[in-house]
Amino acid sequence: MRTLFISVLALITVSLNAQKSAQIRVYPEQGTQEISRHIYGQFAEHLGSCIYGGLWVGPDSDIPNTDGYRNDVLQALKDLQIPNLRWPGGCFADEYHWMDGIGPRENRPKMVNNNWGGTIEDNSFGTHEFLNLCELLGCEPYVSANVGSGTVEEMAKWVEYMTSEGDSPMARLRRENGRDKAWKVKFFGVGNESWGCGGSMRPEFYADMYRRYATYCRNYDDNRLFKIASGASDYDYNWTEVLMKNAAGNMDGLSLHYYTVTGWRGSKGSATQFDKDDYYWTMGKCLEIEEVLQKHIQIMDKYDPKKRVALMLDEWGTWWDEEPGTIPGHLYQQNTMRDAFVAALTLNLFHKYTDRLMMTNIAQIVNVLQSMILTDGDKMVLTPTYHIFEMYKVHQDATHLPLDLMCEKVTVRDNREVPMVSASASKDKNRKIHITLANVDLDNNQNITLDLNNQKINKVNGRILTSKTINDHNTFEKPEVVKPAAFTGAKVDKGQLKINLPAQSIVVLELN
Ligand code: AHR
Repeated sequence: MRTLFISVLALITVSLNAQKSAQIRVYPEQGTQEISRHIYGQFAEHLGSCIYGGLWVGPDSDIPNTDGYRNDVLQALKDLQIPNLRWPGGCFADEYHWMDGIGPRENRPKMVNNNWGGTIEDNSFGTHEFLNLCELLGCEPYVSANVGSGTVEEMAKWVEYMTSEGDSPMARLRRENGRDKAWKVKFFGVGNESWGCGGSMRPEFYADMYRRYATYCRNYDDNRLFKIASGASDYDYNWTEVLMKNAAGNMDGLSLHYYTVTGWRGSKGSATQFDKDDYYWTMGKCLEIEEVLQKHIQIMDKYDPKKRVALMLDEWGTWWDEEPGTIPGHLYQQNTMRDAFVAALTLNLFHKYTDRLMMTNIAQIVNVLQSMILTDGDKMVLTPTYHIFEMYKVHQDATHLPLDLMCEKVTVRDNREVPMVSASASKDKNRKIHITLANVDLDNNQNITLDLNNQKINKVNGRILTSKTINDHNTFEKPEVVKPAAFTGAKVDKGQLKINLPAQSIVVLELN
């Protein structure tokens, strides 16, 4: 039986560099759910310099590249072991006409990227460039298709173009464009934010549109599509209700978007200039996603108790003001230790819901919103968020282990309660246990006792991500201000762990 730990509620105590204590009990034999690797999914939209300049520079570029993909970014992403990549949007998806992005690049028509700064899109990165990139990265493509301004025929033909092996008209066209073998495409989104930039539809209307469009997305040969309906934004539970009621039988997944953002109008706050109060508010807002997930899941459970339909949180992350001096509408923002905490806390809680939450996609992979990587010309920098995804990759496809956590909780602005310690545990295929831990407290160390419910711990290794101040970030001039280091603050003591977790730090431990 799982021991029930009592959780302690306390208000902020301001005592600089004091020691706090916390207890964690992990239950290694009680894990039943696998943490889907797709929880660590990524998102690349035709937005700002995510694709152009970020992932793709073209084969003629002076920036070292492989068939047009920049080598430095490619290597960094390979190291991250990314499981899937969503493309081409976002809002861009519902204005994207895939036929403009095939054939000789010099002949491809241009278009205006109306959603994102009115930039001229030359379509030089299209279906082949995207699917070949996924092959290079060894990740699953997640194609998001146009319902808002596209036709059923256009969508149906795209599926045929990408996945038909036979002598079909679209397979022939693909071959003329240089690709003989069909790609494997599983994840297929039918529209994006159909309540907003994807067509301003009511849920009842979209549910019917979804059914109609999805009908013609065929399974060619042995390719099996996993069809994903456009889902709700944040707290819009009615959208989920109506979609589940009217179209659950036609879908494999339903999406959801949740951003850690202060409000959609006016300033969202600087990515780098913020105070402690802003930081704690951010932690409260990012953790609120748990309640939002629970409520959407509750509705899904009502219509789909066997959990056949997956919840796909295909956009999440922080959304701050664009960096001063950057192109408006390109959503280029810096990334500090605060963003690393958002990633760490959010991933820790996602692990608990993978029986329903099959996939999540942080927005976005390079140069947009809470990105993994920033580029400027031939320069590249890894963000603190990148380091969290790299440290946490040990959880991919591992068995989630339940745990009890007793720690101080703090009430922050907007009356949200934030536990000062966040933790998650998993056991991998080699029976290695990994624990990810975050000390949210900016001033106080945490003395943590961790046990494995009577199972002895023999050895521990760890890595830590921390920095002097919470605003610290990596720049092209100083790319290694925030980077992981070996962690020596965990010791085995009589089969348990004693961990001295520094203030404002995130740690991954491997137990043997
Ligand atoms: O990620 C940026 C935008 O946020 C996406 O294009 C859209 O789906 C969401 O509103």
